[in-house]
Amino acid sequence: MNYAREAISRIAGYVPGEQPQGQPLIKLNTNENPYPPSPKVAKALRDFDWQRLRLYSEPSAKMVREAAAGVYGVKAGQIICGNGSDDLLTIALRTFVGEGEKLAYTEPSYSLYPVLADLQGAVRQPVALNDSFDLDQDAWKQAADAKLFIFARPNAPTGTNLDKTAVRAICENFKGVVWIDEAYVDFSGDNCLSLIDEYPNVVVSRTFSKSFSLAGLRMGMAFANEALIYEMNKVKDSYNVDMISQIVATAALNDMAYMQANAARIRDTRDWLAAELAKIGCKVLPSSTNFLFVETKRPAAKVFQELKEARYLVRYFNLPRISQYIRVTIGKREDMEGFLKTITAIDARG
Ligand SMILES: Cc1ncc(COP(=O)(O)O)c(C=O)c1O
Repeated sequence: MNYAREAISRIAGYVPGEQPQGQPLIKLNTNENPYPPSPKVAKALRDFDWQRLRLYSEPSAKMVREAAAGVYGVKAGQIICGNGSDDLLTIALRTFVGEGEKLAYTEPSYSLYPVLADLQGAVRQPVALNDSFDLDQDAWKQAADAKLFIFARPNAPTGTNLDKTAVRAICENFKGVVWIDEAYVDFSGDNCLSLIDEYPNVVVSRTFSKSFSLAGLRMGMAFANEALIYEMNKVKDSYNVDMISQIVATAALNDMAYMQANAARIRDTRDWLAAELAKIGCKVLPSSTNFLFVETKRPAAKVFQELKEARYLVRYFNLPRISQYIRVTIGKREDMEGFLKTITAIDARG
């Protein structure tokens, strides 16, 4: 007997990247930041009065929204916070897509998007990226009558940035809500935040998990006009961001220079590694993120396995169009030097 809703019982669910416990692996598989969070975060945690935990957290994460409003030049009322940006994506589905209605999402992209459609009992509407893993100018046509169109810019797992004119064409022509997932934006050269003031149907989401080195905290934000935020606020769990997350995220926002310096170091290591991998004959997609998507010479599934045996854990997706690639998170320079030596030896094997 299966008691779950039919939409749930027939799907496998999302499978997150491995979080190995107690194994001596160099973890390059879930795009975490190799550097610790800001020292201001450490101080906020030390100063936190544990006795306050008997109270509920402030329901709207006001403190974080006000700090973010100052940093990003928007109004606090244009922000909703979530338990990671994944929480905000779930809220998006529940707010904008009814059962049997369509969710459009780019492909290949973050593999959570189609799973969110399944969980909601919605219909999947994939929008194919072109051969350069970019948006075509008329990509919006493929989204047709969907209620919500989600894409990541920069994209994951390819690392490519999406053409901004094509993004604008989506904002202008698509009739539903356009959700731009900017999880990796701090590693890229530009962003789409200002589009929330230009278009009434645009949402931009960000996370503290990557550039702010706070994946374990679970904290994300979405920016949009106040009318969209108002509707999403009805859907979110009342206390979806806990007290500690609010204090820590605020401390992180008060030290943008620290985050930006780490992002710059990661970009430098990324660009160095991309050039080195190209020298050994691997095809590397241009990356605007904290990872590289690398087409290996030997079968990627084998290279993935052999890298793991050599203690380097990367990510492999056995999915159409990307099964010949591995995704490599950028760690500290010394780890990536070790990685380069190892993959050079592995990919040269007959
Ligand atoms: C494109 C994209 N969006 C969102 C997320 C999830 O971020 P969070 O940790 O904020 O839930 C990820 C995580 O890997 C991602 O790759």
